[in-house]
Amino acid sequence: MAAEQNAGPLDSAFYQPANTFFSAQAGVALTYDDLTLSTLYSEILPRNASLDTELAGGLRLHLPVISADMDTVTESRMATGMALNGGLGLIHYNMAEKQQLKEVSRVKNHVHGLIQEPITVTPDKTVGDVIELIETKRYSFSTFPVVGDDRKLVGLLSGNVLKPRYAAKPVTGALVPRDQVQTLRESQLDADPIAIADQFFTDHPGINKLLVVDDNDELRGLFTLSDIERITSEKQAQFRPARDGQFRLLCGAAVSTPRDTDGELDRERIETHIGALIERGVDVVAVSTAHGHSKGVGDAVALIRAAYPDLPIIAGNVTTAAGVEYLADCGANIVKVGQGPGSICTTRLIAGVGIPQMTALYVAGQAAKTKGVSLLADGGITKSGDIVKALTLADGVICGGLLAGCPETPGQVMEISGKLYKQYRGMGSLAAMKSGSAARYGHAPKDTNRKVAAEGIEALKEVSEDLDQLLGQLIGGVQAGMGYLGAATLPDLQAKARYTRISPAGQKEAAPHDVVEMKASS
Ligand code: XMP
Repeated sequence: MAAEQNAGPLDSAFYQPANTFFSAQAGVALTYDDLTLSTLYSEILPRNASLDTELAGGLRLHLPVISADMDTVTESRMATGMALNGGLGLIHYNMAEKQQLKEVSRVKNHVHGLIQEPITVTPDKTVGDVIELIETKRYSFSTFPVVGDDRKLVGLLSGNVLKPRYAAKPVTGALVPRDQVQTLRESQLDADPIAIADQFFTDHPGINKLLVVDDNDELRGLFTLSDIERITSEKQAQFRPARDGQFRLLCGAAVSTPRDTDGELDRERIETHIGALIERGVDVVAVSTAHGHSKGVGDAVALIRAAYPDLPIIAGNVTTAAGVEYLADCGANIVKVGQGPGSICTTRLIAGVGIPQMTALYVAGQAAKTKGVSLLADGGITKSGDIVKALTLADGVICGGLLAGCPETPGQVMEISGKLYKQYRGMGSLAAMKSGSAARYGHAPKDTNRKVAAEGIEALKEVSEDLDQLLGQLIGGVQAGMGYLGAATLPDLQAKARYTRISPAGQKEAAPHDVVEMKASS
């Protein structure tokens, strides 16, 4: 019945499946806003559409959205938030290798609701010192675990005693001593730490901080009643966290592929770093470059594949079928498509090279199917409708700019003329290349002191809502798109998509027009 509903010859002549549509457009490259999807008979309610995607053996996401490996987008906080929402974060590599290992560990060891590195004070301080600390650091909380040099818990300093009248008192004279502080052992936190903390607060009226210690009584974390209430009151997320076989959040990391003085790949350094990432539990590594269809990138992917046969590898970027075949033959499981679509990219302007995304995805996708690798649409996504269109041809999307205003990104908030912004810069901007990403654009690190053409800009993004809310909006939009196409799953979406080009007037019609837009008050 459903098939008959969609079989009209008139519709088929105007709204065409990918093969017919893109082949007919050969010679002109299209991106998201150049085309639209037609609706199909549907029995699918948007809220029931599943966004599960398997990018490689064992690498399964519940949300096909990945935060970009850029130094103004993804560190542990963003990667944790992405995985909690079912997606994935790729930790950038513009930092010391040791630091990147720590960032990965933070994501892999994350316990939802548990503040893993609470701010503590030492017993040698006075109450006045702590009051000053709160003022200078502008902390919004006033209860502090007191921890000795040996990291062992000494007590809890409550906000009630942080008053100027007690300023001269030593912290040791004002704290709740260790034997009266309620704690949980880390080993008591099983698969559902939130439920355990929630029960604890119910059983102990009046207590609103719960400390977690290890077997040596060293502080391991802190639950607060307000966090637990917020988490438990949130609607049961349909998009459950993306986890590995040991119930840890998924986490990816970009890896640099340094060369020795003879220009050969530094095998030892690459293998040592990736080995250490795997020890920390990394689930996938990304070899991200501007030109993935090149010997240097292929050699690097082949080296990693030979050393770690089971490790999922993302490689890119390419926009051709031959590029996908090459990287797949070198050992990549997942190929990134995108040259120049990014909001901070200038590759197309500087180098005159790059292909608009939908055409690039279609062409690359033909090779991906033959080679059995997954595709990621990387860059140029500005709204949920773009994600729906990308997912008709790809297995996931990578977003930089769309997420760059979230509080979860690295970097400070700055105020300009009363508005709040965060920095967002291309990894091919001069500043980012100086911080380590020069090789991604085919330059040696020292080249950045000479004249090299930057292929990215430094920019600002207005501070946005937090990641959970933003992803909630994107998920809603993608599910709406799937509902319109009668697609219960992403493979259904790929099978059912029918495209048509839009005229400039049609593009104008797609956005609000001929009205004065009122902003909903928040
Ligand atoms: P969006 O549009 O999400 O794009 O901001 C993020 C993607 O852009 C790529 N990228 C760059 N491309 N010059 C480029 O040509 C750059 O400086 C640059 N930095 C990032 C990258 O693929 C990222 O995921």
